[in-house]
Amino acid sequence: MHLIITDSYQQSAVLAARQTADIVKRNPTALLGMATGTTPIPLYEELCRMQSRGEIDLSGISTINLDEYVGLAGDDENSYLYFMRKYFLDPLGIPLSRVYIPNGVANPAAEIARMNDFADQHPIDVQILSVGENGHIGFNEPGDVFYDKFHLVKLTESTRQANSRLFQDISQVPARAITMGIGGIMRARKIVFLANGEKKLAAMKAMLEEGDVTPKNQGTILKFHQDCTIYLDKELAASIQPARHVQVTYAK
Ligand code: F6R
Repeated sequence: MHLIITDSYQQSAVLAARQTADIVKRNPTALLGMATGTTPIPLYEELCRMQSRGEIDLSGISTINLDEYVGLAGDDENSYLYFMRKYFLDPLGIPLSRVYIPNGVANPAAEIARMNDFADQHPIDVQILSVGENGHIGFNEPGDVFYDKFHLVKLTESTRQANSRLFQDISQVPARAITMGIGGIMRARKIVFLANGEKKLAAMKAMLEEGDVTPKNQGTILKFHQDCTIYLDKELAASIQPARHVQVTYAK
């Protein structure tokens, strides 16, 4: 694990965008693993700015998303497909034919099979990742096992509560989602990870400090990833004592 401590969350996003852009410069048809939620928005905005300044061309990439809510169609503004189109796909000119995300209103078993067929044959070049307050990555919620592949999950009440900020009220937050499994995340060649805010402190401590790898806190599995770069602003990093295996760098 490589921890890069930055001055601000905005700097984290810019550095993470440059690292992602470098991969695409070397491989213009790279497969990018995408996360949604509030955290990666500044990273996606920076990639869009880089493309409009002519510094990078992302229009040839393909994408695969970590997850989608069951029950939300792609034109619902809380669906993750809608999010991806708004912040990333449409501004960058990436056609939906190269976008792999579960369809929230199709048969879940068929969608899981479709996503797994694609994922089995296409290694992810770089996975953008963040973490939930309860340590989930993708929608792999705290539990007793690490799942390997795409699967159906029942969202915990704490996740529904945390995500209800984007909905009218909690009753509108879907109860289920389809998520990439931990195995799929771990098979990504590279992980670019962002977090910020006090609410993520416990999850980040579990990931970066000495301690067990446990499905009770799914993000701890990243301790075993070969090429995972975590960007944290100095405010969040200040309360974390990185374990010996973590290589720490201060961004200039
Ligand atoms: C989203 C995802 C989730 C989020 C996590 C944090 O695709 O997989 O694991 O990364 O819930 O969400 P935010 O960034 O909104 O705090």
